Amino acid sequence: MADINKLPVHVGIIMDGNGRWARLRGKERSEGHRQGAEVFREICTYAADLGIKYVTFYAFSTENWKRPQLEVSAIMNIFRTFLREAEERQQENEERGLRFRFIGDMSKIPGDIAERVKALEERTSDKTRTTVNLAVNYGGRAEIVKSVRRIAGMVKNGEIEPSDVDEKTIEEGLYTAGQPDADLIIRPSGEQRLSNFLLWQSAYAEFWYSDVLWPDFTKSDFDKALYAYSKRSRRFGAV
Ligand code: FPP
Repeated sequence: MADINKLPVHVGIIMDGNGRWARLRGKERSEGHRQGAEVFREICTYAADLGIKYVTFYAFSTENWKRPQLEVSAIMNIFRTFLREAEERQQENEERGLRFRFIGDMSKIPGDIAERVKALEERTSDKTRTTVNLAVNYGGRAEIVKSVRRIAGMVKNGEIEPSDVDEKTIEEGLYTAGQPDADLIIRPSGEQRLSNFLLWQSAYAEFWYSDVLWPDFTKSDFDKALYAYSKRSRRFGAV
């Protein structure tokens, strides 16, 4: 097991490999996403039990709209199921101290989902043990653009001078405002890239990759990532 004193505060997870998992079994891609959502639930609970403060899951990127309509609507239906179940499991989630946040542009998400998202965020806003960020219609560059627009507006209104802008000003306009940077980024399925995920927040993150496809990812894989993280020497640019 990982050294409990060296647990990451914020873990980001790119849930990749659902499509390949399904194809290997002769199933529809949506079956891979459904199984992926089961694993999301399991890892979410496990991270909370371990006391990890922030976990961010990449569920749907700004680029994922390019997928076939059938696959996009299957993923939206998986969100609906998750949100319904979160309502049913309210007490269980409360006891675990789970706070749910959705990061991304919710204006493009079907209205019924956006409403449920808002309700879930409000219902869990006082929970402090573990914050689960679900990145939906999220893109790291779009997030930075959003923040820059906010700053441009503040300068235009004379609220601040251009020279007042610093890293903190940018951070305050991100979806993750108030949350710490990512310490560890986990990407299963053999790919080794960031894919527009938490660009700003992962400036000093450690990366952990695995060939396991996300629907096959287990608590033990999560342990392996935490263990590897606990052995890394983080210098943040110093010696
Ligand atoms: C990437 O695998 C996965 C996605 C784009 C969707 C992930 C969504 C889920 C796991 C459902 C999330 C639901 C909740 C409630 C969190 P891929 O399809 O690109 O896989 P491939 O690279 O093997 O084709």
